[in-house]
Amino acid sequence: MFNPTIVNRASQFWSCTIASLRRVTCQNSYYRSVRFLSNTKQTEKEPSERESVINAEVAIIKDCKIPPDERQQEDKPRLQTVRVYRWSPENPNVKPYMQQFSVDLNKCGTMVLDVLMLIKREHDPTLSYRRSCREGICGVCAMNINGVNTLACLTKAKESPKPIVVYPLPHSYVIRDLITDMEQFLKQYQSVDPFLKRPGEENFVGLRQILQSPKDRKKLNGLYECVLCGCCTYSCPPYWWLGDKFLGPAALLQAYRWILDSRDMGHKERLGKLRDFYSVYRCHTIFNCTKTCPKGLNPGRAIAQIKRLLAGLTKKERPDMETPLPNPCQGEDVYPCREE
Ligand code: SF4
Ligand code: SF4
Ligand code: FES
Repeated sequence: MFNPTIVNRASQFWSCTIASLRRVTCQNSYYRSVRFLSNTKQTEKEPSERESVINAEVAIIKDCKIPPDERQQEDKPRLQTVRVYRWSPENPNVKPYMQQFSVDLNKCGTMVLDVLMLIKREHDPTLSYRRSCREGICGVCAMNINGVNTLACLTKAKESPKPIVVYPLPHSYVIRDLITDMEQFLKQYQSVDPFLKRPGEENFVGLRQILQSPKDRKKLNGLYECVLCGCCTYSCPPYWWLGDKFLGPAALLQAYRWILDSRDMGHKERLGKLRDFYSVYRCHTIFNCTKTCPKGLNPGRAIAQIKRLLAGLTKKERPDMETPLPNPCQGEDVYPCREE
């Protein structure tokens, strides 16, 4: 039977519930509310009891309380051993060592970066590492976690009887603890001229859009997402031995990204710069780089494509859309006169 009182009370309850949920975002309370609704039929005959249940539930939602049994479970510490590489330039005579911490995973977020932040906050404030975005965008939290080069903010800290072992990126110069010197890596990135080149169009920079078809734009997928974390470069054996001459997978992936770009007109010059004994050809297609990339990119394939271009096995395709230079002598004020 349709009972308007029950419907009214139920709707009152739900508006109250939703408002509280919006305020406190308490999932546990939400589930309890759902449980109550499924019990509504049983309590239909006893309105006063139902009212008291509603009030109790609303109070719980308001306070965002967790029932004692669940709370006990949440309070139980989830201890995890973490071993972290330590070295400080302030004590140069102390050799690098591994420091062990026992951290409660309940006190931090779910990622290894959160664990490191907890260690710094509660165990040892001298622990040093780089971090910024904590969501895999800036690429600065690259380190070696459980034997894999990856981003600490994208790696889950799982509760395990084995310790979480954290080292700086392998075969890199350590500045302090987990902070490595990326100067050579960034110089190599700079050396591939990571910007659009359109020789002869310097006077028109910023004055018009340079056109690109959706098909040409799609070719950059899997290349432009690189965050320059260096995980691939520091996992590459040839780079470990010849890092000063071989550009490494990250810089070469970027070089290929600009060679392939349909808007770029400097691909011949770019390829010319790579045509030597070391820059590209020290890659032995081991694919450590591809295996380790935390963004799921394939630098090994990019290097193979550069080798094909250098060998003349493939050529850069013509762009689908050309961007004509504006004619400056038609009464247009915005463009400077083109030099003939
Ligand atoms: S594929 Fe080439 S660049 Fe990548 S890890 Fe192997 S040798 Fe290094
Ligand atoms: S290719 Fe992947 S691993 Fe290498 S620098 Fe870019 S994001 Fe990092
Ligand atoms: S903190 Fe930015 S990528 Fe990890």
